Amino acid sequence: MKRRSNAPSVSARVAACARRAFPSWLPLVMPLVAAAATPAARELAEILQSTPDVVRGEELYAPCAGCHGPEGSGNQDGLVPALAGQHFSVLARQLVDYRHGERTDVRMAANADRHRLQTAQDIADIAGYLSGLQRRGPGTVGDGMQVRHGASVYFRLCESCHGATGQGDAAEGVPRLAAQHYEYLLRQMNDAAQGRRPNMPQEHVRLLGELEVQDLVGVADYLSRQIAGP
Ligand code: HEC
Ligand code: HEC
Repeated sequence: MKRRSNAPSVSARVAACARRAFPSWLPLVMPLVAAAATPAARELAEILQSTPDVVRGEELYAPCAGCHGPEGSGNQDGLVPALAGQHFSVLARQLVDYRHGERTDVRMAANADRHRLQTAQDIADIAGYLSGLQRRGPGTVGDGMQVRHGASVYFRLCESCHGATGQGDAAEGVPRLAAQHYEYLLRQMNDAAQGRRPNMPQEHVRLLGELEVQDLVGVADYLSRQIAGP
């Protein structure tokens, strides 16, 4: 298993990321953190400032592996997301949001709570471990019928933030979507469009809500087939 034994601090990693031109509504996550406006934002700020211990992170990950797989590749039913190679900032934010009820899922509410992950440092350790694993793709993919259409939608509406190959952006907290499971991506987009992703910026929800079924299927299939770049 590939592991970063001497993980650089998050701020160093974040600073190392080149900035690109984003639509104006993107900078929603990091300013919230900087302002530490809510308990969730305060906890996230603490995590982003800590230095992850990836060896401890691997130990803490053990109970998660039953669902997310021993190498963080998710489940082959396609419904449990791959976590390997997801950006530290994204993993940290999603775990904080589950635990503060800002993203809802019964399985994750139980797994991100303080019985399992007691401190901000625990979340930092587990996110540090997972972000350093190699994402192996593709996992589950769609039927291939709408891939070309999906790519054109993706390059028109999504690429500016999620990146040409779906690699996301660590500094801006934009998730890596490349080589994510098809079913999971489709479900998240539908959930978001129907108001079941409360932590997602409203503008993003609206964008997904405007897509036709064919667009959603195509984008999810296109992304699921990308190899996970750096
Ligand atoms: C019982 C199965 C199960 C267990 C155990 C579990 N998870 Fe999950 N996890 C899921 C499912 C299902 C989802 C997708 C939920 C949703 O739709 O919001 C998920 C989502 C996530 C996400 C969000 C991923 C993204 O791309 O947004 C993270 C991060 C995560 N899990 C981390 C963990 C960690 C860390 C642990 C262990 C402490 C863990 N999970 C244990 C089933 C599980
Ligand atoms: C302005 C920047 C921006 C644009 C444009 C954008 N996204 Fe996102 N996207 C984000 C950010 C930031 C998040 C994380 C927010 C969250 O989880 O609440 C995200 C989250 C997601 C997620 C959830 C991933 C997960 O595992 O939880 C999906 C799926 C997604 N975007 C798909 C798309 C698609 C498809 C498009 C184009 C139609 C798109 N996005 C356009 C910034 C963007």
